[in-house]
Amino acid sequence: MSATDAVAAADTRARRRAAEVADAMDDIAKMDAHGREHGGIDRTGVDRIKERLLELAALEELFPVEDFPPPGGGRGSANYRLFQQDDGSLALYVQSVGDGTSAPPHEHTTWAVIVGMRGQELNRFYDRCAGEGEPHAVRDEMVECGTGVAMLGQDVHSIHIEGASTNFHCYGLAMEHMTGRRYWNAAAGEWRIFSDVTNIVEARLGHRAGVVA
Ligand SMILES: [Fe+2]
Repeated sequence: MSATDAVAAADTRARRRAAEVADAMDDIAKMDAHGREHGGIDRTGVDRIKERLLELAALEELFPVEDFPPPGGGRGSANYRLFQQDDGSLALYVQSVGDGTSAPPHEHTTWAVIVGMRGQELNRFYDRCAGEGEPHAVRDEMVECGTGVAMLGQDVHSIHIEGASTNFHCYGLAMEHMTGRRYWNAAAGEWRIFSDVTNIVEARLGHRAGVVA
């Protein structure tokens, strides 16, 4: 493929991707709104969101690693923002990891759905909510191609990734608005507040691309 053809293919892919993301997030926004109208989304609601995201993840050719490269310089993740409501609610990211990363037990303060595309993200779930003492693992679920996990705001999980992975992370609140959420600091033996959010990369069509937070 010539360089010109490659640019044209990437442009076509970006437009198809934007259309498919818009369709999926339109559906998910309705599910989220329905939940809010009924006192907050429930497990049935987040499972429906997971199923819709699994349909989007099946279009893996629209989300190649060349469009969502992992961060340079070793471990960690880049979180490419594909969708966000104007009011800061409801957001979808492609999380791209190149060489492993992990997150300690934490809450989200809103619902969260993770769906796999490439690689493996081990999700570990715990026996208590944030602030209730030392959490103990109760079950593991592997997020990979064709699978996902769905959580409510008080659920606590940790993530463990070896090597490379590309997943969808969808939340009822944009990441930069998730203030005050807690994680378990095992060394200190206490719950602490996440102090920052990093590695959000703007990836919406029509927005200036690049790191935003
Ligand atoms: Fe999480």
